[in-house]
Amino acid sequence: MMEFVEIGKIHSEFKTLNNMPIQPTGEKSLKGEIVINEEYAEGLKDLEEFSHLIVIYFFHEVKEHKLIVKPFMDDAKRGVFSTRAPVRPNPIGLSVVEIEKIKGNIIYIKNIDVLDQTPVLDIKPLVPDFDFPKGEIKVGWLENRSKGVKEKESDHRFVQKKEGN
Ligand SMILES: C[S@@+](CC[C@H](N)C(=O)[O-])C[C@H]1O[C@@H](n2cnc3c(N)ncnc32)[C@H](O)[C@@H]1O
Repeated sequence: MMEFVEIGKIHSEFKTLNNMPIQPTGEKSLKGEIVINEEYAEGLKDLEEFSHLIVIYFFHEVKEHKLIVKPFMDDAKRGVFSTRAPVRPNPIGLSVVEIEKIKGNIIYIKNIDVLDQTPVLDIKPLVPDFDFPKGEIKVGWLENRSKGVKEKESDHRFVQKKEGN
């Protein structure tokens, strides 16, 4: 059996899925905060020495998964595991964000692409020697498309619109 705990929440300005960024590198991505629950705050020791963080979180608004999706960056249907779509069997997302400062249990971050109140499962420092592979990197169907991520905005294709949104 697998068990996970929520270690905190992401606070962002994005209250609805419409028009938000689809990746942290999007032009619309904004500053936000990761508020770590008090019982885990001691684990933040030494993190302020790092500039970037990998944040792993639960796409809490996702209600069902799909194995074939039409991703934000393409009009063709793709296998979900070849995309970053949130509607995955385990709706887990990850974002690389820049750390602005850490005060107590709050990490102030510079760029985030998730909804306000998204539950956080883990955070890890980004370390180029660990995380950036050497050699050629192939990006499949995203070749010639991934650069367009800056202008791309989210919509409700994966999560039903709620009343008032
Ligand atoms: C394409 S995903 C990419 C997330 C992450 N950077 C990744 O690659 O795993 C980002 C999109 O997921 C959706 N989203 C963000 N937060 C969400 C949440 N808490 N629940 C459901 N969908 C969310 C929004 O449409 C947002 O634009």
